[in-house]
Amino acid sequence: MRESAVRPIGVERRFDDDEIIVSKTDDAGRLTYVNDTFVRVSAYSEEFLLGKPHNIIRHPDMPRCVFKLLWDTIKGGDELFAYIVNLAGDGQHYWVFAHVTPTFASNGAIIGYHSNRRTAPPQALARIEPIYRRLLDEERRHARPADAVAASTAMLEAVVREHAPTYDEFVWSLEPEAIEAGQH
Ligand SMILES: Cc1cc2nc3c(=O)[nH]c(=O)nc-3n(C[C@H](O)[C@H](O)[C@H](O)COP(=O)(O)O)c2cc1C
Repeated sequence: MRESAVRPIGVERRFDDDEIIVSKTDDAGRLTYVNDTFVRVSAYSEEFLLGKPHNIIRHPDMPRCVFKLLWDTIKGGDELFAYIVNLAGDGQHYWVFAHVTPTFASNGAIIGYHSNRRTAPPQALARIEPIYRRLLDEERRHARPADAVAASTAMLEAVVREHAPTYDEFVWSLEPEAIEAGQH
């Protein structure tokens, strides 16, 4: 894991519910496209961002197991939805609900990835933040990164099983409409 030189200052940045933060990467996760909203919310310039690995906005509070799940899923050719807290260049953080998809060449090979992100509803964050804290605490109990991610992955799988048959159904059960309908 690359440690960012930026330190979180504990201030949340919001963006509008009708905005979409978009990025595209090559097959190794290096940024090839960012939209204006990405630039504004991340507080980096487009020139700085292009060519950088996507972990440039990684927040230290994000459990590693979520990114393992992300990469395992998209490398396997599937889409993934996830709540992610990101770290902007000025130290502020911003929560997103991300939809990450592979981009295929005409021969079926994966040539890159694409992420669209919207605001994360507060009701969903109230559910996901304590789960991420537990996952992170578990990861911090292990000295070796491989042990940390194995332990938190097992914990995430157990949390998902408590709530829903699959991770996908779990993540959608955090939406306000689902919470209101009592599907949890
Ligand atoms: C299309 C795409 C979008 C991504 N979006 C984010 C993101 O918004 N925030 C983030 O921290 N990582 C994102 N990642 C994952 C990063 O590549 C990386 O796995 C993650 O930041 C963990 O970094 P680390 O392995 O250095 O800990 C994205 C990856 C892809 C392919």
